[in-house]
Amino acid sequence: MVPAISVAIDGPAGAGKSTVARELARRLGFLYIDTGAMYRAITLKALRRRLNLADEESLKALANQSRIELTTDPDRLTRVFLDGEDVTQAIREPEVTRHVSMVASLPGVREIMVDRQRELARSKNVVMDGRDVGTVVLPDAQVKVFLTASPEARARRRQRDLLARGYHVPLDSLVEEIMERDRQDSCRSIAPLKPAPDAWVIDSSDLSAEQVVEMIAARVLGRAS
Ligand code: DC
Repeated sequence: MVPAISVAIDGPAGAGKSTVARELARRLGFLYIDTGAMYRAITLKALRRRLNLADEESLKALANQSRIELTTDPDRLTRVFLDGEDVTQAIREPEVTRHVSMVASLPGVREIMVDRQRELARSKNVVMDGRDVGTVVLPDAQVKVFLTASPEARARRRQRDLLARGYHVPLDSLVEEIMERDRQDSCRSIAPLKPAPDAWVIDSSDLSAEQVVEMIAARVLGRAS
């Protein structure tokens, strides 16, 4: 059997990881795995059950009992199923976004999620995006990318997304929010956000998603041939 190829794409929120990873997976015919969606799905279930999110044992038990499936439609929509229910929209609700980092910081929950992520990549070619894919989940990935962008560029993208949903938020406050989140993500003791030593760091501040996809696809195809 030809060994499966893995592409890891890590980086901070708003750098364009999911757009790039999804499109790259489509181009290469690989499976796209959004690891953040898995943490979001567990968070949603815990909130619905009104569990104490700091109670690691009950969150671990919940993660163990949960079935999470990720599918990508031919029209490129990625759908997330939790115990058979389509939770694609529900996991993006602000309530989930506000609480997910708490759940993702529990070592016991991460251990379960990381095992599942590795299992998904064992027999299939994958593009996996997250925070710790190149460092922890798939340290042997053939191509590792750390996708970043300046806080201003990320804030501008976020501002555009929010505007499309009818909210106008000043740029300054978005930059502030992004810098604070970076500080938290980089300083946490478990799986802190940092590039793997062998990661290819791409700054997407002045690049379109298409350009980034093109650059990574060329490298993956070069490695695979
Ligand atoms: O990429 P996202 O916003 O959907 O991620 C949701 C949360 O999960 C965010 O707080 C970072 C965290 N996360 C993580 O700790 N490890 C991953 N591999 C992916 C996401």
